[in-house]
Amino acid sequence: MHGSCSLPMLLLLPLLLLVATTGPAGALKDEEKRVMVELHNLYRAQVSPPASDMLQMRWDEELAAFAKAYAQQCVWGHNKERGRRGENLFAITDEGLDVPLAMEEWHHEREHYNLSAAACSPGQMCGHYTQVVWAKTERIGCGSHFCEKLQGVEETNIHLLVCNYEPPGNVKGRRPYQEGTPCSQCPSGHRCENSLCEPVRSPEVAQDLPGLVTEAPSSPATGASGSRKMGAEGAEEPGIRSGLNSGPGHMWGPLLGLLLLPPLVLAGIF
Ligand SMILES: *[C@@H]1O[C@H](CO)[C@@H](O)[C@H](O)[C@H]1NC(C)=O
Repeated sequence: MHGSCSLPMLLLLPLLLLVATTGPAGALKDEEKRVMVELHNLYRAQVSPPASDMLQMRWDEELAAFAKAYAQQCVWGHNKERGRRGENLFAITDEGLDVPLAMEEWHHEREHYNLSAAACSPGQMCGHYTQVVWAKTERIGCGSHFCEKLQGVEETNIHLLVCNYEPPGNVKGRRPYQEGTPCSQCPSGHRCENSLCEPVRSPEVAQDLPGLVTEAPSSPATGASGSRKMGAEGAEEPGIRSGLNSGPGHMWGPLLGLLLLPPLVLAGIF
């Protein structure tokens, strides 16, 4: 696709329409994709305390296809094959998928997160939130699927939403963003747009220029700095969250629960 981050968000709509997938029941509609990106960017622009280095997020069809393929497997747990992709999950019973609701549930975790301490309140989940506002994550793609049976959950007829992110957030030992004057620490090649760092060139061009986008590698070295509670969000940290109060059955009712656990983390629960 030819998404250009230098365009206003609204212009993404026609782009998304071009790749419209009026697929099987449970597939994300183009409007839902647009809303997903817009809400991410809204929440990212509004973080408190403010972020100095928050990149604008854009939709990525490859990530969306990856997420969709995993959603179709109908498993309530993180994709072990997700590689270097962040992942947020959301599931809801038959009332149907509601993108703003999923986003609100993920974003709600901000109440439990302390940026100064880089810590999540004991017994709470913060990883969905920290992925949503992970400054260096610039691409998102989501897919949904209606699962008559969702592995790991007793309830039936569930809408599963999977969002994957690149570069992945929740790198252990790191804060989701740097506090400071908005855009005061944008990478080179970016300008400030609504408190977010927006690439000046089209993404395609930018990605062809090494160094234009500075992605801090989440190397194992950075992940070796001790175990912080919140660090459970570490994308490469398996199983740490197994003690969470987020096991299956905890959030019944219409909501199954939103797990924004870093990948593998959920796997530890099941
Ligand atoms: C956040 O953590 C910092 C550093 O540990 C602490 O001083 C502060 O009181 C905490 N804020 C809240 C709201 O708990």
